[in-house]
Amino acid sequence: EQGDERGAAELLAQARRVVVFTGSGISAESGVPTFRDDLSGLWARFDPQRLATPEAFHADPDLVWGWYEWRRARVRRAQPNAGHLAVAALEARAPGTVVVTQNVDDLHERAGSSAPIHLHGSLFAPRCVSDAAHPAAFPEAVHPTAIPDAAHPAAFPDAEEDAGAGPGEGGRIPPPRCERCGRLVRPGVVWFGEPLPEAALTAAFEAAATCDLLLVVGTSGVVYPAAEIPRVAARSGAVVIQINPEPTPLDRICAINLRGTAAQTLPALVGIGD
Ligand code: APR
Repeated sequence: EQGDERGAAELLAQARRVVVFTGSGISAESGVPTFRDDLSGLWARFDPQRLATPEAFHADPDLVWGWYEWRRARVRRAQPNAGHLAVAALEARAPGTVVVTQNVDDLHERAGSSAPIHLHGSLFAPRCVSDAAHPAAFPEAVHPTAIPDAAHPAAFPDAEEDAGAGPGEGGRIPPPRCERCGRLVRPGVVWFGEPLPEAALTAAFEAAATCDLLLVVGTSGVVYPAAEIPRVAARSGAVVIQINPEPTPLDRICAINLRGTAAQTLPALVGIGD
């Protein structure tokens, strides 16, 4: 185990072009729930069909908006953990590093990562529903600080602080209206069945195809096309190293599988640990 960590740290130190690919597991130690972790996972407690699809929003916008406000409130109360900070330190040391995340939280940004590529959008980039009608208008690589230059970006409503109640606890909140056209504002995340932001996906595939090492942290590797990213890197001859306390379908394409958590493993790997 120690050998693996040392080996991984050496490979990382020698790599010239690194991609860090993250999933909800990197935010777990910040108290932000993952999706598929047995009992604590969001999909064990909430039905994605009722909350994370365009049909769900159309059927009950208050329920869906309320749920995302509940998730956003939890992220705002969370702090980046040592895993996020180690990724930012790696970027500072190796400027060519590209961070690609499936997460819709802003913890990479708050840890100091300059421009993570958000494949699934962001909780901090609400937009008018009219953009959904034109997939091309999907936000490019979305950064929580910059509301995508969608046709009608939505200014953030100052959601009630007590958006702490999830749908189970009656957390229905009517979505705001677009100031430009009066239609509903929707969460700036990619729902099941929707296309991913074109520019984000292209940039992520490009980075994966040209890197010499890809670090995959905290993802179950089962949701596509995002899960294709580490496989593109492996097929392009890059070394793939995984950090996950559990085995995943990605294990077999990884040169090293570190069975640990992001906050405990990344700092030592990046060489800022003890
Ligand atoms: N450190 C590292 N990994 C962890 C930690 C931790 N502290 N805690 C949990 N994990 C791992 C779990 O073992 C699991 O493999 O993180 C992974 C989380 O998997 P998921 O919950 O499926 O999250 P993710 O892979 O990001 O989901 C992908 O699915 O629902 C959609 O759009 C959503 O972006 C999300 C996508």
